[in-house]
Amino acid sequence: MTDLPDFALPDYALNDAVPLPAPSQAFLLGLATRRSAPAQALVAPGPSDDQLDQILQLGARTPDHGKLFPWRFIVLGPKSRAEIAEKLAVLAETQGRPSKEQAVLAKLTAAPLTILVVSTPIPNAKPVWEQQLSAGAVCMNLEHAASGFGYSAAWITDWYSYDAEAAALFGVSESETVAGFIHIGTLTEPPLERPRPDLTAKVTRLP
Ligand SMILES: Cc1cc2nc3c(=O)[nH]c(=O)nc-3n(C[C@H](O)[C@H](O)[C@H](O)COP(=O)(O)O)c2cc1C
Repeated sequence: MTDLPDFALPDYALNDAVPLPAPSQAFLLGLATRRSAPAQALVAPGPSDDQLDQILQLGARTPDHGKLFPWRFIVLGPKSRAEIAEKLAVLAETQGRPSKEQAVLAKLTAAPLTILVVSTPIPNAKPVWEQQLSAGAVCMNLEHAASGFGYSAAWITDWYSYDAEAAALFGVSESETVAGFIHIGTLTEPPLERPRPDLTAKVTRLP
């Protein structure tokens, strides 16, 4: 991985003029080649503490309607994930397909670092759907930011995101929803391309 020793996030104050986008081949190529990692294949190195701070700041720089910031982050290192995974393994036995639910726990514990993005909609504000979309956009920006530092990432939910007792083990309350576990680390092999949609079936062009 290439180090970015001189990289520091610009710090804009409220109402500062933020530069207009400049054409960037590197940026476009990054979007064209982005691929999720298989979560269980993510290994060290993961982001340093400084890089994590910057990845979180970039992730939080995401569209949201009404400046509500309707999401929060829970940063999970290997120790907390291992402890929670042990408890999830017990809960998995009460799920519909215990062996599958056990097996996917490997995705939770492999990566050096995980950012859990929690959707925290504010009642009686903008539509809840829009607030949840904003949390999804945060997940995507976290992945882009991780990739800017040369890491790979996986956006995972799995059954424990949708089971209240399981989600509570991570500190997610009943009024909140898991938007995603963003696992970040390094892949030793490049990922293979996956199917992409035929845009002729997806795009309507109106004059
Ligand atoms: C909200 C959401 C939840 C996801 N949950 C899982 C999951 O639990 N397990 C999984 O293997 N992939 C999951 N994925 C899919 C991967 O994150 C990834 O998008 C997929 O493997 C496609 O790879 P790509 O991002 O390179 O196109 C999820 C994606 C989204 C958007």
